[in-house]
Amino acid sequence: MEVLSGQIVLANTQRAIGYVIAVILSIGFVVAVVANMRKGRREVGSEIELAANRKPYYDDDTLETTKLDRTLALGLATLAVIGVTLPLYWLAEPGRMEGRVEAYNETFIKRGEELYNTGAQCAACHGPKGVGGAANYTITAPNGDFVAQVSWQAPALNTVLFRYSRDEVRNILIYGRGFSPMPAWGAAGGGPLTDQQIDNIIDYLQSIQLSGPEARAEVEKELADTCAPDADGKCTVPGGQFATLGEAIFNMGLYTKFAGGAYSCGRCHTDGWSYGQPGVPGGGAFGWNLTGGRSLRQFPTAAQQIEFVSVGGVAGKSYGTSGLSGAGQMPGFGVNPNVTPPNIPGPKIYPMSPDQVMLTEEQIAAVVQYERSL
Ligand code: HEC
Ligand code: HEC
Repeated sequence: MEVLSGQIVLANTQRAIGYVIAVILSIGFVVAVVANMRKGRREVGSEIELAANRKPYYDDDTLETTKLDRTLALGLATLAVIGVTLPLYWLAEPGRMEGRVEAYNETFIKRGEELYNTGAQCAACHGPKGVGGAANYTITAPNGDFVAQVSWQAPALNTVLFRYSRDEVRNILIYGRGFSPMPAWGAAGGGPLTDQQIDNIIDYLQSIQLSGPEARAEVEKELADTCAPDADGKCTVPGGQFATLGEAIFNMGLYTKFAGGAYSCGRCHTDGWSYGQPGVPGGGAFGWNLTGGRSLRQFPTAAQQIEFVSVGGVAGKSYGTSGLSGAGQMPGFGVNPNVTPPNIPGPKIYPMSPDQVMLTEEQIAAVVQYERSL
């Protein structure tokens, strides 16, 4: 806001200066016209003595040396000024325009940050800087009866643009997630924010995304603590909850609340997972039921399933044998959807890089192997 009002003041000052110059020029013009007219009147009748072309002028010598030289020098100087300033202007213009774009990017991100932290209270559930958190939530039966009061994990958003395109995030923000604590924010979903405010929030989210290596290191550490897989992918942590690397990835954060479950599959594919009361693993919730050999029918080969889990659902696109992605809410775990030159969306000062992905190829292969065993 400060930046904006500063710009308005600046624009007003410039306009004021413009008006002053315009007024001075107009007055000068009027004075010149009047003076000229009066001079012309004075000369009426005196043409013979004072005709302009009979006024004594410089003699040939002066005309062809001093006067000519001075005029030529003046012309050369003017040309030099134009010759220097025009290229300088050309050189500076793209930089100036870029500077303006950057200034606007910064302004949008600032507004998004304000909304994230206070205006829309995203931070209350998703944690400061999108590190993940939880929300208190009352589960009710379809008839409205109270069922339970729970703490529902809210996924980390500092990797949300690793797994969803900006359009997919916009869609989630506008409509929220039914049957979960995530409210609708856009007008179309009955929420309080304007399209521009939602875009500002997405710009802010883009500015707080982890780097690829940072995210990878966090995941490596979590998996070392909860599984520590051997060469065959069997977990070796004494007394650990998971048998295989695939199972540990599928449930990453179930007991530790790591990143609000952002890297897990269970939070969408296992009923009750997000509030610590997991039902049948992969039994289906917001994401499809994956049990009973369902994956094997949908994806005849593991490679096809790995491909789908890497790219995720794309709104309205079919996948596998008979799959159709609704709103593209199945995240992509191995391919960053926001890296598509030349039209990379979002603030140019925070471009996304292809190594910003949720899971490595080996991790995806492990979790797919686990799913195919369900
Ligand atoms: C009352 C708590 C709460 C508030 C406030 C809230 N969220 Fe959420 N949000 C959640 C929960 C819980 C989920 C996970 C829902 C689920 O289990 O599918 C979620 C899911 C999401 C997702 C989907 C992420 C994914 O990987 O599935 C996005 C994006 C998101 N929220 C962004 C926001 C933004 C931006 C705001 C602020 C405008 C916000 N949320 C405010 C609780 C909240
Ligand atoms: C944010 C919720 C969410 C998360 C997290 C999630 N999924 Fe999904 N998944 C879905 C949805 C929704 C679908 C249905 C397809 C669609 O709409 O894109 C789906 C579909 C699938 C399918 C196809 C099922 C079929 O038979 O059609 C597979 C396989 C799958 N997910 C695997 C995974 C794996 C593996 C992970 C973790 C690495 C995972 N999912 C994490 C929401 C999720």
